[in-house]
Amino acid sequence: MNYSEWVQSKWVAGLAMTIMVIGACGVPAPPQGDGDIPPQYVGQHMPEGWWGNDAIIEEGRQLYSGIEKPGVNCARCHGKTGRPVKRGALDFRNTDTMKQYSDSRMLWRIAEGVPYSSMGGFKGNLSEDEIWKIIAFTGTFGLSGLQYDPEKKGWVPIGSRQTG
Ligand code: HEC
Repeated sequence: MNYSEWVQSKWVAGLAMTIMVIGACGVPAPPQGDGDIPPQYVGQHMPEGWWGNDAIIEEGRQLYSGIEKPGVNCARCHGKTGRPVKRGALDFRNTDTMKQYSDSRMLWRIAEGVPYSSMGGFKGNLSEDEIWKIIAFTGTFGLSGLQYDPEKKGWVPIGSRQTG
């Protein structure tokens, strides 16, 4: 290759590196689809009738806020109102971001945590039902009035889903 081709190849490689570095440092985009979710979580969904259920949401709020269990306090990073108080914590108020999560993905991440981040796993402190209650509560921020529909693989208005 001649000199200008060589310069160009270096530039392209440099650009690709830069994009990779920016990509790695920026807010991680949640992957589309549930292909990476471990099998024990992939088919798991919110118990019937829990989305938008006030009693369930209140129990979730107490767990989330650290009132119920001393070892569990999501609010100290994600904020009482879903507005993050720790850098990099997921913003539950952001509807577009939250819509990219399935309920199974939330369950998995809350149970097991996110590697290489301050988001630890809570399965030692929370039962699956307790995690679902928290998800019902955090849903009231950016996903208010919506529930996850496993057939449509998306968020739909609560009650619009036909269940058998
Ligand atoms: C010590 C701070 C901290 C606490 C406590 C904490 N989180 Fe997080 N959480 C984070 C951070 C930081 C991230 C972003 C992790 C990443 O993707 O790099 C995160 C990400 C998440 C995600 C998205 C995971 C993903 O795959 O992107 C969910 C859902 C979540 N937290 C829920 C909770 C819930 C529910 C609790 C309480 C049971 C909780 N978090 C407690 C810091 C925290």
